[in-house]
Amino acid sequence: MSNRGLEGVVVADTELSKIYGEEGRLVYRGYEIEDLAENATFEEVCYLLLYGELPNSAQLTDFRRQLESERTVPGAVLDLLRLLPRDTHPMAALRTAASALAGFDPDARDMTEEANFRKAIRLTAQMPTLTAAWGRIRNGQEPIAPRDGLGHAANFLYMLTGETPDELRARTMDVAFTLHAEHGMNASTFAARVTVATLADMHSGLTSAIGTLKGPLHGGANERVMHMLLEIGEPDRAEAWVRDALARGERIMGFGHRVYRALDPRAPILRSLAMQLAAQGGDTRWLDIASRIESVMREEMDRRGKKIYPNVDFYSASVYYTLGIPTDMFTNVFAMARTPGWTAHMIEQLRDNRLIRPKANYVGPLDKKVQPIEKRG
Ligand code: SDX
Repeated sequence: MSNRGLEGVVVADTELSKIYGEEGRLVYRGYEIEDLAENATFEEVCYLLLYGELPNSAQLTDFRRQLESERTVPGAVLDLLRLLPRDTHPMAALRTAASALAGFDPDARDMTEEANFRKAIRLTAQMPTLTAAWGRIRNGQEPIAPRDGLGHAANFLYMLTGETPDELRARTMDVAFTLHAEHGMNASTFAARVTVATLADMHSGLTSAIGTLKGPLHGGANERVMHMLLEIGEPDRAEAWVRDALARGERIMGFGHRVYRALDPRAPILRSLAMQLAAQGGDTRWLDIASRIESVMREEMDRRGKKIYPNVDFYSASVYYTLGIPTDMFTNVFAMARTPGWTAHMIEQLRDNRLIRPKANYVGPLDKKVQPIEKRG
């Protein structure tokens, strides 16, 4: 019997992050996620993932300048987005546009480590621009150009909404990016590593990762969590809704994890951000519904003896909704935040590369003979 879903199979060594599944801990290059969320910006975390250590002041200034200088995307790629049907899902639009960037990137075919570092920074910078542009183009509006002087996360909200976020909203977006930046050998990261392990290029690896993240069992869960909150609508309806869904054998989006057998450490940080935003805006409805869902799930899963807890997607949904991000763009936020993790893993894979090619256990028929077509059933 195969290791279904490769559960428990170790496919590589990595220096990028360690997940303590039983304890519910997450470490990026030796730093606890709570420490990074509290004391570092997303730009510092990107630098840490790519170069192995947090930047000093001069290094951070230079890195921020590099990111800022790489935010624009070619006009032809925006024209390509204008050709898409307006109801194209934002993750499909991102997958298409990110792939098209290769045609305009002078480093696209250069797989030296120096070129790959340049692309890692460039792609991290460009991903928010692509998503914000689609958010405008699909509404018949012109994209808003990136604005120098704004941080990476704040600039995304500015390009999407046309408004400069206040300190709380900018900081909330920044921390959410940090929490999504890296997470070991998750499905989309694995897809990226499998792709570049064939010596295909980094844009191909990024395109594989975006396509993989889109699925509701992975990055697509945050969008479905918001649909669940909207469908429930009121805290008092949460319990019945969850119990009915579980009785139908459905999965509750935003819960469970292949590795965590305790609370995903990113969830309480996102819950805290959601509470701060709710306090500022005075609307605690989505948080109240989420809390009721969490308590019903805890009771139900305890009763069933299952270690199923909220994951990163459960509270990110109400954070993004309150920030004014369209629900169908929630997974795009995950993708833009995960780009430093994906690209750092691709660079790590190429440092000690071997084609990734597992086996399959054949269970089909054998010894069959071809019959003339007129004799076939
Ligand atoms: C992410 O890997 C990563 O690191 C990913 C990620 C990252 O940062 O990159 O952390 C981001 O993808 C988080 C996960 C987002 N997905 C969801 O929220 C979708 C809902 N969750 C489930 O589909 C599920 O928990 C998975 C897919 C996340 C993990 O599933 P597994 O490890 O394959 O577990 P399983 O499907 O074998 O389920 C084991 C049992 C089953 O019950 P039994 O059949 O044994 O009776 O647990 C049950 C499942 O029915 N179960 C759930 C459940 N998740 C698992 N029951 C109800 N609701 C759920 N959400």
